[in-house]
Amino acid sequence: MNSKTEFNNQPDPEQILMDHSYDGIQEYDNPLPGWWKFLFWASIFFAPAYWAFYHLGVEGRTIQDDHDRQMAKVMELRFSEIGELEANQETILKYMKEPKWLKVGGSVYKTNCVSCHKADGGGSVGPNLTDDYWKNVKSVEDIARVIEQGAANGSMPAWKNRLSHKNQIVLTAAYIASLREKPVSGKAPEGDPIPPWEEN
Ligand code: HEC
Repeated sequence: MNSKTEFNNQPDPEQILMDHSYDGIQEYDNPLPGWWKFLFWASIFFAPAYWAFYHLGVEGRTIQDDHDRQMAKVMELRFSEIGELEANQETILKYMKEPKWLKVGGSVYKTNCVSCHKADGGGSVGPNLTDDYWKNVKSVEDIARVIEQGAANGSMPAWKNRLSHKNQIVLTAAYIASLREKPVSGKAPEGDPIPPWEEN
């Protein structure tokens, strides 16, 4: 028995032994199985199609978009517990004292507002939201109005059509109002000093 046939499990090794030899090493022509080659080429053709489907042109197909939609759905499910909130003083002050719902406003704030008002509310592009000085706000429901309609010709954007539910505006207003309980030394005061929320 020679060394060529020793490890052979092919029917006819002489037929398929390749005709080269490197440093005395010879090899059989054992092609990769068809199913393997199929997967190889299929994944090559699949990848650009997959990428184009999720990342080119059409909005709303990425995993991030999907996650956002699901979060919005969860929020809306929970909104049925509180109904349609009115943007008035009584409601905003009430939800200021409900940590569970304040978190909803807090998450709207984190997603949309920190770029101009800073995570702690101290302000950068927009004013400090934690002090007693306000430009467009005299009483607490004005906060909801500013969020809804914007201010200063859009340098504070209107959020009416960007937030999916009115309750988000009311709960965000409650969250903003609550920031005044923990003033931070951010941007210097702008506007006029106003009394505490309860007194307006
Ligand atoms: C693109 C930057 C920008 C973003 C994003 C932004 N704001 Fe503002 N915001 C401003 C500016 C600028 C003002 C000041 C407007 C003015 O001069 O009257 C302002 C003012 C405000 C005021 C009134 C402050 C006052 O003193 O009258 C509130 C309340 C407010 N923003 C809340 C929010 C909330 C809530 C969000 C997120 C949903 C948000 N802002 C997102 C720029 C921004």
